[in-house]
Amino acid sequence: MTAEKTKIESPNQNIMPVTATINEHNHLTVGGIDVVDLVQEFGSPLWIVCEETIRQSAEAVKLGLSNYGQALPCYAGKAFLCLALVKLIADLDFGLDVVSEGELFTALKAGFPAEKIFLHGNNKSERELKMALNASIKIVVDNESELATLIALAKPLRRKVEILLRIIPGIELDTHDHIKTGHDKSKFGIPLDQLDAAIELIASQKNVELLGLHAHIGSQGMELDPFLESVDVFADLYANLKDKYNLTLPHLDVGGGLGIAYIADDRPLALQSWARALSVKVKEAFSSRNLPIPELSIEPGRAIVGTSGVTIYQSGHLKELPGINYLAVDGGMADNPRPITYQAKYTAAVANRMVGESDKIKPWSIVGRYCESGDIIVEEAELDARKGDLIAVFATGAYNYSMSSNYNRTARPACVLVKNGRAEIIVERETLKDLVSHDRIPSWLT
Ligand SMILES: Cc1ncc(COP(=O)(O)O)c(C=O)c1O
Repeated sequence: MTAEKTKIESPNQNIMPVTATINEHNHLTVGGIDVVDLVQEFGSPLWIVCEETIRQSAEAVKLGLSNYGQALPCYAGKAFLCLALVKLIADLDFGLDVVSEGELFTALKAGFPAEKIFLHGNNKSERELKMALNASIKIVVDNESELATLIALAKPLRRKVEILLRIIPGIELDTHDHIKTGHDKSKFGIPLDQLDAAIELIASQKNVELLGLHAHIGSQGMELDPFLESVDVFADLYANLKDKYNLTLPHLDVGGGLGIAYIADDRPLALQSWARALSVKVKEAFSSRNLPIPELSIEPGRAIVGTSGVTIYQSGHLKELPGINYLAVDGGMADNPRPITYQAKYTAAVANRMVGESDKIKPWSIVGRYCESGDIIVEEAELDARKGDLIAVFATGAYNYSMSSNYNRTARPACVLVKNGRAEIIVERETLKDLVSHDRIPSWLT
């Protein structure tokens, strides 16, 4: 570990939100508010999102791209999307990636500028494609079959549909298998040996315009090299398209995937260093091949919102067994499925006793309330914890709310945005009534 790497330069390197402090009551505060007060007002479990962390993260990306020229930083909405987030992302002057009609609907409903929305996804339905076409959204085409569908849908239109092609660059990211997406057998994108056929098909169409290529090699990436290698793949492809078809594509989208710090040992690159290194590499790779420098998009999700989020649970029953102590909380895998899905690690603290009594500190496995033995949020957190405490789990801003479920028929927690001493609900807590609101009883059972 070098000194350079340990220095925290951007919010994605800090497990806690940038505004997190401990106040005179030994309580955690976020956004200038005592977390104990937040739970009193909004209940538990509670997702807290720190606006300042998101703003600083976005600024770090912009700073990294500041010497590039034409760049459009985007936010990958799958990490966490709701109307308030869309408003915030628009305010930050970012573009927005969506992957479903639900995300697209959310973006449009919040008034996000259509020209800065990109629709991704490996199996877009005709309905989703039509929705995107009606709203003049740019479409990132994933495969030849989708391309054929899109061409058919574009035929009656009196305009050109702007698309990008997602490619499989054949690059492995250093991350969990389930979130690798750039390797040869990825389910996302067009294999390179099928690219020419797709390009020729597009060239023969009046109503489809190819803006550029796209790839996203995976998520929670910690090393720079795979990201840079993918730029060389792109530059070779753009050079080949120029030589073979005299085709110059104006846009390039290099994806997202930068990691964040979940635990003390995690050493992600700073957002601005990542954005800068990628943009410098694009300039070098394209100019060394005598190619014009394309407009550049990058699309981080996790690194923008991940460390803005803190989940607060209340501890319930404690169980001390030989060799393991269980601290059960009022949430778990339904509000945070990442540990059971990817063996993801988290950091926890007692929000109402941030500095514990040293002789009372012991390892607690923080387990959820759900009916799965794998529902373990943090293994062996060293805490001075007691029944009724508020347990903070950090870096839950990305892929928690967006991957949550109603498992065991539990209602989703509320989500509250905090900023400068103010807190407002951005997603209401679900109620028991919500849980049965879509249920119907067939006539023969009434
Ligand atoms: C196409 C695309 N872009 C961007 C992202 C965002 O990734 P991350 O949140 O790791 O930055 C994803 C995540 O799966 C993705 O599939």
